[in-house]
Amino acid sequence: MPSNPRFSSGRERRTPLWLWCAAIVCTIITLAVIIAGIVTYIGYIVIHPRVPYVSVTHAHLNPLRLDYAGILQIQATIQIRAQNGNEKAHASFSDSNYTLSLNGEDIARLVASPFEVSKNSWIDFNYLVESSAIPLDPEQAENVDMALKHDYITLDLKGSSRVRWRVGRLGSVRFLCHLDCHLHFHPSNGTYIPSRCTSNAK
Ligand SMILES: *[C@@H]1O[C@H](CO)[C@@H](O)[C@H](O)[C@H]1NC(C)=O
Ligand SMILES: *[C@@H]1O[C@H](CO)[C@@H](O)[C@H](O)[C@H]1NC(C)=O
Repeated sequence: MPSNPRFSSGRERRTPLWLWCAAIVCTIITLAVIIAGIVTYIGYIVIHPRVPYVSVTHAHLNPLRLDYAGILQIQATIQIRAQNGNEKAHASFSDSNYTLSLNGEDIARLVASPFEVSKNSWIDFNYLVESSAIPLDPEQAENVDMALKHDYITLDLKGSSRVRWRVGRLGSVRFLCHLDCHLHFHPSNGTYIPSRCTSNAK
């Protein structure tokens, strides 16, 4: 494309006022963003927020009962800890609702009423799970039988708690603490084989 030298040189000679204004506005916005970043960073260092989380800290399985008709009964203890590592803010937990299942068959629902965890503290919930008689189909009964033979059984724990957490003066944050884990046991003595089960992303 042929250029027009007179037109372009005429444009370069005087920078339009709006361009100056735009440049100044851009500079101010850039400075504001940088300052906001520094303030947030210092705030983060001072407040040192730690995201509250839930985790399974301990569990135990009582002897399983599987009768010849394929009726299973399970009794287990599961300890769920709600942890708040913040030194300056408490955390409110609500809508705690977890489901314990075996091979996709729900065994029990673990719920808790709303509660608060104070600064730098935790609360343990000890759930005594006692299943009603669960009728298993032949395939499920076979699976449980195999688990008993191998002395290794897996229960699934799934669910969440809603958390509200005040981060200094920056306001409050709401989010879900989500658990989705496999709890492994030796059925012969009920020992829990510890594995990672936490909503903490770290
Ligand atoms: C827990 O969640 C299940 C579905 O995941 C729902 O059916 C049940 O009503 C909930 N229980 C409570 C107490 O919110
Ligand atoms: C439970 O049984 C398993 C395997 O049979 C064994 O490794 C573990 O040490 C036992 N735990 C206790 C506390 O007896």
